[in-house]
Amino acid sequence: MRQVPRNAVVTGASSGIGAAVAHRLAHNGCTLLLVGRDRARLDAVAARTGGRPVLADLREPAGIGAVCDAADGWVELLVHGAGVGAAGPLADTPADVIDELLAVNLVAPVQLTRALLPTLRAAHGHVVFVASVAAIGVAHEAAYSATKAGLRGFADALRVESDIGVTTVLPGAVETPYYERRGQPYHRRFPRPVGAERVAAALVDAVRRNRAEVFVPRWLTVGARVHGAAPALFAHLSRRMDRREQLN
Ligand SMILES: NC(=O)c1ccc[n+]([C@@H]2O[C@H](COP(=O)([O-])OP(=O)(O)OC[C@H]3O[C@@H](n4cnc5c(N)ncnc54)[C@H](OP(=O)(O)O)[C@@H]3O)[C@@H](O)[C@H]2O)c1
Repeated sequence: MRQVPRNAVVTGASSGIGAAVAHRLAHNGCTLLLVGRDRARLDAVAARTGGRPVLADLREPAGIGAVCDAADGWVELLVHGAGVGAAGPLADTPADVIDELLAVNLVAPVQLTRALLPTLRAAHGHVVFVASVAAIGVAHEAAYSATKAGLRGFADALRVESDIGVTTVLPGAVETPYYERRGQPYHRRFPRPVGAERVAAALVDAVRRNRAEVFVPRWLTVGARVHGAAPALFAHLSRRMDRREQLN
């Protein structure tokens, strides 16, 4: 198993999964650049991890530029933890919400990875994408699912074409402010939410083992296998489950 990288850029470090990843990396002696928009929450994570805060809105080219300037010359690990959610039927999803999902969840990680690739390559580095089990398609989260499937495809291509390590983390439900922020609480009976620390532990372990993908909890891999082998059967089972959830 490899050592934990000596330094890392973590986006979404001001909250939830990104903050938990920052804590775990710091605990393992990693020096951090912590990226987010909320100064107070970012400063609180910085105080506990010794990391350096970088205020950046990743929807903006200037935000991507600010991260690159701060990271210049040293990135062994890049963790894309920033993300936003949205739930509801596609027809009821406002166009600007879809724009934001695409900008934060997909365009920003692609652009930031591209910009930091020379540095990552020079360091024989590693990039981690926090996607979601929604990458295999979750009803009432169509636009969100598209961003996560896009991220997974990007990671798959990058893993083949570049010589850096590439890991995709695909959590189910995680107890973070994510649901409050998207304006709709988590209502499904399963998968049951896990703590952000569990995702962080799986993420760091996957980097050390250079794993291509990790689902959290791990049993969610079964759904991905059915989806890959028999997409029509997967859609049929998902529809039945979804109807049952709607009745409860
Ligand atoms: N929670 C879940 O159940 C779950 C499940 C599967 C996958 N995920 C994925 O995990 C990732 C982290 O989610 P979380 O649960 O940790 O949510 P969270 O607690 O709401 O954290 C989201 C983070 O993204 C940052 N962010 C949002 N918009 C940004 C922007 N425009 N520019 C820069 N940073 C921005 C936030 O920073 P500021 O607050 O500073 O703006 C915050 O640090 C997301 O990609 C999410 O899709 C979450």
